[in-house]
Amino acid sequence: MSKHNHELETGELTIPTSSRTRRTRMTERHRSLVRETILSPSNLILPLFVVEGQSNFRKPIDSMPGVEQLGMDGILAQSESALKAGLGGIILFGIPEHKDEFGSEAYNDRGVIQNAVWEIKQRFPELLVATDVCLCEYTDHGHCGVVERNRNGEIEIVNDKTVDLLVREAVSHAEAGSDLICPSDMMDGRIGAIRDALDQNGFESLPIMSYSAKYASGLYGPFRDAAGSMPSFGDRRSHQMDVANSDEAMRVVQRDIEEGADIVMVKPAISSLDIIRRVREQFLVPVAAYQVSGEYSMIKAAAQNGWIDEERVMMESLTSIKRAGASIILTYFALRAAKLPS
Ligand code: PBG
Ligand code: ZN
Repeated sequence: MSKHNHELETGELTIPTSSRTRRTRMTERHRSLVRETILSPSNLILPLFVVEGQSNFRKPIDSMPGVEQLGMDGILAQSESALKAGLGGIILFGIPEHKDEFGSEAYNDRGVIQNAVWEIKQRFPELLVATDVCLCEYTDHGHCGVVERNRNGEIEIVNDKTVDLLVREAVSHAEAGSDLICPSDMMDGRIGAIRDALDQNGFESLPIMSYSAKYASGLYGPFRDAAGSMPSFGDRRSHQMDVANSDEAMRVVQRDIEEGADIVMVKPAISSLDIIRRVREQFLVPVAAYQVSGEYSMIKAAAQNGWIDEERVMMESLTSIKRAGASIILTYFALRAAKLPS
């Protein structure tokens, strides 16, 4: 080390005054003055996994540290925390006691989700309770729809029969008191069919948040542990989107809006920031993004190894998703993020 280190020569360089962009970064006072993206708790939605039966049930999900499958006691406690934290709401996923070929517990008026919504709304009517509409948590084969063999003898997830069941599921969620119907199946025509059925049953004011641009992603792995919805054969590539496509995302979003979606979702979030931005610029409906289980687990795993600062990366990822154009974010970090200044 040179003894002259503290007296570096200056004056050789002439930096134009307009080049000095650091002026507004010098203190937190200046940084907060010019900050463009603010995370608000009211834009965050917390996903919860409801287990049927035993109300004091709780089981940690190994691949999602800090997230548990919960019976009604735990669900009500989480609902209260969500309300106190000022979250935008919660979204429920059901783990039924019985599964069958057609996922009939999904549209049972006394099913796990229907009961949970009803109970939560009795206790916390001001809390927004969203419900995920799909069959994969309810079918014994773990697929999002009705499985049949086609003419070539290949296994197929058939579209229209699945839509009929999704419609029944959505209406039964509405009757139980859901505040936001969220079809996540990616069948064609389900938004229009669900919109019609809701309207015919007196729910013309109940909005739909469509999982519109939902990619066939490896990042849903931990969720399938959490929800017990891993397909027992095959995969979801015949309905979820190819990660390679961007124009196709615009087409499905446009179709869903035309069919009556009030909010459109892009999923996963961090690997689809370009899609979030494109949807935001092209359409005029609110855009939601789902920071999915694998995104959560990657941050958790690296943090547990001491490789990254968990809170910092949590806030950085959420801020980036919002900056990309999402006004609503579904995230397992919702309660923790709501407590931190953005
Ligand atoms: C159900 C559904 C899934 C997710 C949300 N709704 C799983 C899937 O499509 O396999 C994923 C959420 C997450 O990974 O956190 N169709
Ligand atoms: Zn599904």
